[in-house]
Amino acid sequence: MNPRRLYMDNAATSFPKPRAVQEEMTRYATEIGASAGRGGYAEAMESAAILSDCRRQLRKLFNGERDEHFIFTLNCTDGLNIAIKGLIDPQIGGHAICSLIDHNSILRPINAMAERGWISQTRVQIDPKTGLVDPEDFRKAIRPDTKLIAITHASNVTGTIQPIREIGAIAREAGVPFIVDAAQSAGHIPIDLQADNIDLLAAPGHKALMGPLGTGFLYVRPGIEKILQPFREGGTGSISEEPRQPNFMPDRYESGSHNAIGLAGLAAGVKWILEQGIEKLAAHDLDLVHTFIDGISDVEGLKMYGPQGVKHRLGVFSVRIEGFDPQELSGVLEQSFGILTRSGIHCAPFAHESIGTASLGGTTRFSFGPFLSKQDVKFAADALAEIATKVEPQIHADERR
Ligand SMILES: Cc1ncc(COP(=O)(O)O)c(C=O)c1O
Repeated sequence: MNPRRLYMDNAATSFPKPRAVQEEMTRYATEIGASAGRGGYAEAMESAAILSDCRRQLRKLFNGERDEHFIFTLNCTDGLNIAIKGLIDPQIGGHAICSLIDHNSILRPINAMAERGWISQTRVQIDPKTGLVDPEDFRKAIRPDTKLIAITHASNVTGTIQPIREIGAIAREAGVPFIVDAAQSAGHIPIDLQADNIDLLAAPGHKALMGPLGTGFLYVRPGIEKILQPFREGGTGSISEEPRQPNFMPDRYESGSHNAIGLAGLAAGVKWILEQGIEKLAAHDLDLVHTFIDGISDVEGLKMYGPQGVKHRLGVFSVRIEGFDPQELSGVLEQSFGILTRSGIHCAPFAHESIGTASLGGTTRFSFGPFLSKQDVKFAADALAEIATKVEPQIHADERR
């Protein structure tokens, strides 16, 4: 086993986190401890202030209209469920549009409602070479009963960045709520909630926003709360005398005690991004993308999926080496080079079907983060070159025997 550990699975969750994230979480754990909004004493007030600060940082980063329209969720999946299911009334039904590039956290909630007979669905095609959708296909798919359009902004399989602003404009013109899954893009590249025509933005706090696992948010554009039914009801620490869920933000969607320690970390993570500057972080990611593409472009027997150049992509790469099962390739990368990757179908079955890797066990995924250097990425590209030329795949060797 190689003693070096080079973490290249930032698409699953980011690691390491900025020091300030650890410090803020430690400060919460050792000095505050109280539940936000659940008392009038100083510690509970401070805990509530941390949450308010977190919403303020998020509003700044994403150019949202109002702090209190950022509602905290368990992760990105939770936010997408609140958004997708909250727009569908089973008594009325309707139609939902998503795409073949989407993650299961969009596909499954929509599919579950379709299987129950509540809605029908359209999955927009992607270009198998680039993973890109054509915004016009969304326009064509819209029907009078379409209740939502949802799309994964940046693919966790191919790294493809979709033209959300154009799709958002089409949705806005048709009066259809537009949901964006920013799991792989939030914190990596700029997102402007207002200019990008987004009605509901779900993101994890624990990926490129640099917070800990167990955090996430859903942005609800002002006005959308009038048509978005809450997914869960319960204690909010507000108007406790009422048996009814409050209809003001953010309490309408935030029942139960908050993950205050996690949100203290998330607030510090988002502050760190604002200090670095999202443009600078995006430029660093692009540098890594350049380095990786340069490093692997001449490797014989290696195939990379998604956009072949730097355009329309970020630092999430799916690759296969001829003869290697993706899991085996991840194993060799870890054992011999200390490089940590994720192999398989990555919770995106139709993305893999579209690029032709579903029946092959998927791909091996490298995903970069702000603490990786060009040297790290060059090391990974060199490791792939060495494996492609010098390592005999054991699974196939065994089969041949
Ligand atoms: C594109 C995409 N959407 C949604 C998710 C779900 O995120 P979470 O694990 O925070 O629920 C992921 C996670 O990998 C993802 O890559």
